[in-house]
Amino acid sequence: MRVVAIDQGTTSTRALVLDTATGAADIAHIVRHATFHPQAGWVEQDAAELLANVRACLAAAGTADAVALANQGESCLAWDAVSGEPLSPVIVWQDNRTAARLGGLADAPPEIARSSGLPLDAYFSASKLAWLLDNVPAVGAAARAGRLRLGTTDAFFLDRLAGSFSTDPTTASRTSLMNLATCAWDPELCRLFGVPMAALPQIRPSAGVRGRIAGAPVLAALVDQQASLYGHGCRMPGAAKITFGTGAFALAVTGGDIIRAKGEGLLPTVAWSTASQTTYALDGGVYDAGSAVEWAIRIGVLDEVSQLDRFDAPAAIDRGLVFVPALSGLACPHWDRTAAAMWLGMSGATTRADLRQALVEGIALRTAEVVAAIDRHVQLGVLPAQAISIDGGLSRSGYFCRFLADVLGRQVVRSAFSERTAYGAALLAAAAMGAEVVPLTAPEETLAPTHAGARKREERRARFAEAVRRCREWRGIA
Ligand code: G3P
Repeated sequence: MRVVAIDQGTTSTRALVLDTATGAADIAHIVRHATFHPQAGWVEQDAAELLANVRACLAAAGTADAVALANQGESCLAWDAVSGEPLSPVIVWQDNRTAARLGGLADAPPEIARSSGLPLDAYFSASKLAWLLDNVPAVGAAARAGRLRLGTTDAFFLDRLAGSFSTDPTTASRTSLMNLATCAWDPELCRLFGVPMAALPQIRPSAGVRGRIAGAPVLAALVDQQASLYGHGCRMPGAAKITFGTGAFALAVTGGDIIRAKGEGLLPTVAWSTASQTTYALDGGVYDAGSAVEWAIRIGVLDEVSQLDRFDAPAAIDRGLVFVPALSGLACPHWDRTAAAMWLGMSGATTRADLRQALVEGIALRTAEVVAAIDRHVQLGVLPAQAISIDGGLSRSGYFCRFLADVLGRQVVRSAFSERTAYGAALLAAAAMGAEVVPLTAPEETLAPTHAGARKREERRARFAEAVRRCREWRGIA
């Protein structure tokens, strides 16, 4: 069987072709798209460009027996039910324009947050969709005319390409509008945020038929991070991965149980679902990982990513130089959009290489905060002792991976095959059609903590925690 999986991510769209009989999984096409920052805190993409890129990837991949889609988690838009034309830009998950609006909901009854499992944050789709209704005249007009569609990008792509106005529980669990236990839209949440339930897509299982593209059934569609969890082979409770893409996202499978955050700031979320079973996960995110690297290139601190592969100096944090990558604020476990990114501890002797070194260390240390929250929360016994599987751009940096293993205090496994997101979506589609898949043979490397032990790790974490505290104070002063 030939499965074509599309990974429509924050910075690029890619097509992977999985041959289930041989296990070969190859990228057929990659295309990047533009991101716009019309105001501070606003992050937008062009829905028509994304759709054209998905089409180009499908065309480049050729014939398919089945199609799979991995989509950005919370990014959403409005479109016209009759013409299919976008009525708004895609408001990207990083966009923070609705932070003030959410302040007005702070007194909402706690059982409402319990239904979705999520904190009130502009990250999730609900406040973004309500903002579109209130601020884009064409969206309001379509609502009055009864032809409005609101949804995440997966629902837009599948509506336009496969004739299925639908989403899945992994994506819907990132909107703040879905009841996590029933996997159905919650009327109370829709009322609270001001999102008309009638304009939302149908929620269908992540694995199963979701329309057809050029005759091939779409057999899987789910959030990219959850697809990557599946693509890393994480199936049993406690199995975990971290993907270093635009942001960094650590997810751990929790099985059929919803494990609710109790102060650690983790998100209970749907990992994947079939017609008969829903599997849950815990999720912790770092908003800026690859985006911090790209920013460093834009401002001239970094010329090329290969400069992050090795550093000859001792760790920057041990020399008192720290970077907190809070360019879009801080997600798990802080949930503080007011935090500002900072380098702390510079002197006249600080070099650009030192700044780069602190930057990669800062991303690793932020990730360690998230993994520590998972370790504290998941009382599964096996998780802290397990190696954690990683993928994405920064996983190619040897320095980053060794430093990460040190600050996590556990083994980190990286594979020569890093297309875990598209691969996971393809595997889920293959499972949906009952196809056996020959396993991957890509070499893996295990990086063990090399450092002198727990004391040094605690020192680094404590120093970083103090830097985070100062970053959180700054916007209140500035
Ligand atoms: O929550 C946002 C996430 O789904 C985006 O992932 O890989 O596109 O940065 P990525």
